[in-house]
Amino acid sequence: MSYQITLLPGDGIGPEVIAAAETVLRALPVDMDFTRAEIGFGAYERLGTPLPDSTLDAIRRADAALFGAVTTPPNIPGYFSPVVRMRQSLDLYANLRPNRSLPHPSSRPGIDLLLVRENTEGLYSGIERVEDDGNRAITERVITRRGSERIVRKAFDLARQTGRKTVHVVHKANVLRQTCGLFRRVALEVAADYPDIELREMLVDTCAMELIRAPEQFQVIVTTNLFGDILSDEACMLVGGLGVAASGNIGADAAVFEPVHGSAPSLVGTGKANPTATFFAAAMMLEHLGETESAARLRNAVETCIAAGETTPDLGGTLTTSEMTERVIRNL
Ligand code: NAI
Ligand code: MG
Repeated sequence: MSYQITLLPGDGIGPEVIAAAETVLRALPVDMDFTRAEIGFGAYERLGTPLPDSTLDAIRRADAALFGAVTTPPNIPGYFSPVVRMRQSLDLYANLRPNRSLPHPSSRPGIDLLLVRENTEGLYSGIERVEDDGNRAITERVITRRGSERIVRKAFDLARQTGRKTVHVVHKANVLRQTCGLFRRVALEVAADYPDIELREMLVDTCAMELIRAPEQFQVIVTTNLFGDILSDEACMLVGGLGVAASGNIGADAAVFEPVHGSAPSLVGTGKANPTATFFAAAMMLEHLGETESAARLRNAVETCIAAGETTPDLGGTLTTSEMTERVIRNL
């Protein structure tokens, strides 16, 4: 049986890095059928919507999806972010951001941190209003028992699966007594089901500081939506930054993996787009499918390139996207 993989190239350098990842995936001994689906500004121009229903269906039907990037156009009335809409429509509640040290000067050593961010509620629930003639603005922060429980459980399950021993639950329950209070309470309850893994609590501001001071102390961090958005971007800069940062969006019925970077319009067609982040996203996808060995092989092949300086210019090398792709395949 072969895996059904939906590719979502998107805009800008999205199609370039997705093509590179497809080539690399085809070189691995894993049976995969690839189909492509439309997303982004180009899709809007061709089809009148940045996220056609057929795309959502293609993601649902697939075993996993690999997404490039989209361009957000300036001020088109009625336009919506297809990325946010996709996460909501498919209830992709867990955003996973692994941060592992790379053999490169831009990476600090000794880091192997998985950041697990709640992806559907919190301050990004979309409940906002304006009062007092526009002089008072309110955003509501929604935290639910169900939302907290499933994200904390996902974090502990992943800790167990990957042999990690601690999970940091990051919150601000001393100030946000209701919302973070509920998140914290549920986390403590869930942790009781995992006696083999130690729960550690940390306030979010302390965590932001500790990530810079001593990032090696973290194995898994689980936190709410906005905190996770900020901390994950902070953490990725410890281990090489945008060119190498990958993420996964996981729901009960669908999973979408992607590089963290955007569509980098100025790089389109120059051959300078670094495919590494998308290669790492592809490796996460393989891991999600249970193809652990191929995932490790792909990751090692990319790291071998990086260690040898065989990279695109953003990491100090002189290779083009397709040259680096060839080197990775050779290393496989
Ligand atoms: P960006 O991530 O596209 O670019 C930021 C900087 O990093 C630029 O200097 C770019 O050249 C560089 N860069 C990004 N990816 C790279 C790669 N693979 N290799 C080498 N260098 C790379 O973010 P920016 O410029 O703020 O946004 C550009 C467009 O992308 C906007 O329309 C934005 O809305 C969209 N965007 C989309 C995202 C997504 O699809 N998930 C995420 C972030 C931005
Ligand atoms: Mg972000």
